[in-house]
Amino acid sequence: MNGNIIIKNASELVTCSGFQAKKGSEMADLHVIQNGGMIIEDGQISFVGKASDLPEHPDPEQFHVLDAEGKAVLPGFVDSHTHFVFGGYRADEFSWRLSGMSYMEIMARGGGIVSTVSATRQASLEELMEAGRKRLDSMLSFGVTTVEGKSGYGLDRDTELRQLEAMAELERTHPLDIVKTFLGAHAVPKEYKGKTEDFLDFIQGTVLPEVAEKGLAEFCDIFCEKDVFSVEQSRRLLLAARDLGLKLTLHADEIVRLGGAELAAELGAVSADHLLQVSDQGMKNLARAGVVATLLPLTAFSLREPYARGRAMIDRHCAVALATDLNPGSCFSESIPLLFALATLYMHLTVEEAVTALTINGAAALDRASTIGSIDVGKKGDVVILEFPSYRFIPYHIGVNTVEKVIKCGNLVYDKTNGGKLCC
Ligand code: NIG
Ligand code: FE
Repeated sequence: MNGNIIIKNASELVTCSGFQAKKGSEMADLHVIQNGGMIIEDGQISFVGKASDLPEHPDPEQFHVLDAEGKAVLPGFVDSHTHFVFGGYRADEFSWRLSGMSYMEIMARGGGIVSTVSATRQASLEELMEAGRKRLDSMLSFGVTTVEGKSGYGLDRDTELRQLEAMAELERTHPLDIVKTFLGAHAVPKEYKGKTEDFLDFIQGTVLPEVAEKGLAEFCDIFCEKDVFSVEQSRRLLLAARDLGLKLTLHADEIVRLGGAELAAELGAVSADHLLQVSDQGMKNLARAGVVATLLPLTAFSLREPYARGRAMIDRHCAVALATDLNPGSCFSESIPLLFALATLYMHLTVEEAVTALTINGAAALDRASTIGSIDVGKKGDVVILEFPSYRFIPYHIGVNTVEKVIKCGNLVYDKTNGGKLCC
């Protein structure tokens, strides 16, 4: 592994060029170079242009030369909202939902998040890592090169920290980059039933300061939802997190229109996520405050809820990102192909907007638009090569993985032509 690679003969080099979130109509321009080529040197992109302009490198011995054979090359995808570290599964709940029970009814009966909390509390660090690693491998095969992961299935000090440690350890040993988020306020655990304020005091006063002091998470999140945490409660936790130097994101306006988007804008959060029920005012505020609207259509699909108004958000100049929300309850899916299909067919994003939402805007949702999310000189060499000549095949080949190769920091880490084995 040396991180040096020359990629020639890309029918489309889909650069998604840019160093900040793309808002509104900017999302439509992918900055495609026909017949492109690129060089990654020591893991960083050092040349982007026409294949015919590829410079003669002084020392070709040092470079892996990869012929893209007339296929499309894109930035690695950024999945900016997941809960991929957890214990146990909830397949029974899927059947309950099919028989008509709602997500919130299941939660009110002690199922839902708190049932994953029991299983996660019982899981060791090694077990959490082992399950997490398999999920990361699957994401990588879909072209994801950076993923965000949340705690929130411990709701006690030790398990919250163990989830974050599992992510830190996986980041050291797996090619994917992992951005860690503290979601200690994901639900109220059984031992605090009816004592939401006391639980928040504990999270805010005891766990959050330790997470911040030890540098275990970069972001703080909260499930701002009716019957979970109110806007006022969310504001107080997020303000405390901001004071401790964490960046902010929140589960906002997912099931009930509470005003989570307005709160995200007021606090200068990096992103506001879900937004199925966002108000018109909320959209305006997000656009004005430059908060990335992260939409999770796989969750709406899985819960049979109406999709977030992605088209309207883009038309109102929001920066929209797309992410999977992989978790054991509301959305047990890391499928990037299905995500693309839903975003285009049901949220009415164009193919170009969907690609922007999963690349440069996904990076912006993690405050990383200056280092990943596009094929620009100086950025990390994270690249996907499709099996097809155009990015247009991604949603068109509905629900099927079109990724052939994944390059992370200049190294080939996944190759479908090699039996789909990870090369790392
Ligand atoms: O993003 N809504 C809250 N949190 C997750 C679901 C977690 C779960 O059901 O386990 C979500 O949908
Ligand atoms: Fe979520």
